[in-house]
Amino acid sequence: MTGLQLTNLSKSYGGHRVIHDASLTVHPGEFVVFVGPSGCGKSTLLRMIAGLEEITSGSLQIGGQVMNDVNPAERGVGMVFQSYALYPHMTVAQNMGFSLRVAGKPPAEIAARVAEVAQTLQLTPLLDRRPAALSGGQRQRVAIGRAILRRPKVFLFDEPLSNLDAELRVTMRIEIARLHRQLGATVVYVTHDQTEAMTLATRIVVLRAGRIEQVGAPLDLYHDPANTFVAGFIGSPRMNLIPAEVLGVSAAGLDLALTGLDARVTVPGRAAVGDRVTLGLRPEDFDPLGAAELTLEVDVVEHLGAESFAYARGGDLTLILSARGVPEVKPGQGCTARFDPARALLFDASGQRLRP
Ligand SMILES: Nc1ncnc2c1ncn2[C@@H]1O[C@H](COP(=O)(O)OP(=O)(O)OP(=O)(O)O)[C@@H](O)[C@H]1O
Ligand SMILES: [Mg+2]
Repeated sequence: MTGLQLTNLSKSYGGHRVIHDASLTVHPGEFVVFVGPSGCGKSTLLRMIAGLEEITSGSLQIGGQVMNDVNPAERGVGMVFQSYALYPHMTVAQNMGFSLRVAGKPPAEIAARVAEVAQTLQLTPLLDRRPAALSGGQRQRVAIGRAILRRPKVFLFDEPLSNLDAELRVTMRIEIARLHRQLGATVVYVTHDQTEAMTLATRIVVLRAGRIEQVGAPLDLYHDPANTFVAGFIGSPRMNLIPAEVLGVSAAGLDLALTGLDARVTVPGRAAVGDRVTLGLRPEDFDPLGAAELTLEVDVVEHLGAESFAYARGGDLTLILSARGVPEVKPGQGCTARFDPARALLFDASGQRLRP
């Protein structure tokens, strides 16, 4: 199995820098997921690994070898794109076997390998069809099959499931997780989808404006974000980020005025009187037995079946609460939302986490 080493990778288009000093180690067999807002550089970084974008500066190693100037075909990577990029005039079998044909493999070997991979991906009955006669999920499986056939050391996926409907996305997500286990391959995967990132990744890389903000196991990022950006980005619905000012410091903790909510709470933490901070509370942090209390007005309640969320206003802010933690929420009515102060996260004025 093959690892990757990115050392201070940068990319500029003209004078405009879009990737800034990205450093990352991907261990052999890992499933690393890049997430971040549109335009933050996820695809660019992936394409730099694939060799489809030139590296402006820094070093890229795959399996311990510097690959900066190595031809994409010789990097040992297989890439799967959002658009599938299948040849419309070729059958499924021809699409899948294309790279082996180009490499001059004997037809009998190509047929055998295509048959084997088709079996794994449940594509056997479709081998003679053209892409136009396939569903989105089937096309995506062909694209993945084509990548597998090349026996790459590293799989690179750029939003492979984003063109599929919700149900198919779940099926294919499980398929990809199974495939990863089966092949034991190293994977770098780009997605917009929180659930894909949380469920597939051994580690998530959060990117923002071309910089790596934090790298960690999904639940570590969820419970222990380094800054307000990661706190707000990981988790759906998102964490409530409430501006506050430190009014007092005592043995009980920080006495905070929650700006915009017209409320005061005491939470554990370290800061100085007068500091502006941000209080982070996840929707599920609300709990009827909590010691801290907010008075809010419920605006909208969403029932999703297993879970309900309330959007509740206090002053200028709208908070999202898991309705489980706030009994008897009804739209248009007041509610008392309680939380355990020990669950609140604190961030300084620049957005960096303040740890107790
Ligand atoms: N060929 C190019 N020339 C100039 N700028 C580019 C080029 N390709 C990408 N960019 C810029 O680089 C930045 C990163 O783009 P990239 O496609 O990597 O974002 P992304 O994170 O994949 O976004 P999305 O989630 O929308 O796919 C963007 O600001 C984009 O406009
Ligand atoms: Mg992209």
